[in-house]
Amino acid sequence: MRPIAPAREYDVPVLAELNNRFAPEGLTLLRSEAFVEAHLDDYRVIRDDDGRVVGCVCLDEYSPSLVELVSLAVDSEQHRRGIGAQLITAAVTLAAKRGYPELFAVSFSDSLFERCGFHFQDIEKYPEKKRRYAKVSPEEWKIGHKHCFAISLGAAQG
Ligand SMILES: CC(C)(COP(=O)(O)OP(=O)(O)OC[C@H]1O[C@@H](n2cnc3c(N)ncnc32)[C@H](O)[C@@H]1OP(=O)(O)O)[C@@H](O)C(=O)NCCC(=O)NCCS
Repeated sequence: MRPIAPAREYDVPVLAELNNRFAPEGLTLLRSEAFVEAHLDDYRVIRDDDGRVVGCVCLDEYSPSLVELVSLAVDSEQHRRGIGAQLITAAVTLAAKRGYPELFAVSFSDSLFERCGFHFQDIEKYPEKKRRYAKVSPEEWKIGHKHCFAISLGAAQG
């Protein structure tokens, strides 16, 4: 298992490109380098032996009590090796450490999130999400059948 690492300033273009690679399929939302730069402390990455980023995940805060797991992306050549699950777990750990009561995500990857301890959640619980993405991606709610997932972090906060 490769270690989870923080993102660095020089990762900014790489992280935007890795995320945006999957945007045409509607799997991720487009992220600008400005978004990545502004959220650099909220990213966690996994690198290969040469230091190249092969996977990333980010926390996007709405308020001190509401945070979303976003920008989960793994290089296609590295899929199905457990990197995605490792990144989700890292996001959960970071969100718990920062004191959020709950972490939510919107994704097609049902079994992956369930295996990581998330449960199905009604998207109507997060009107902030719908409002924000209406601006970013008006098509967001028309692409396929993404599901909303959440995990309670109360226990993780100890
Ligand atoms: C979704 C995504 C991040 C998953 O990354 P990943 O590194 O392949 O994730 P994992 O390897 O942890 O798990 C993926 C699957 O591989 C399986 N797997 C994990 N390790 C495995 C191994 N050693 N051998 C075979 N299969 C394995 C898992 O069981 C899982 O299957 P499931 O989804 O049916 O439960 C990746 O496919 C991706 O980047 N997709 C495009 C962007 C995207 O969809 N992002 C999500 C937006 S929220």
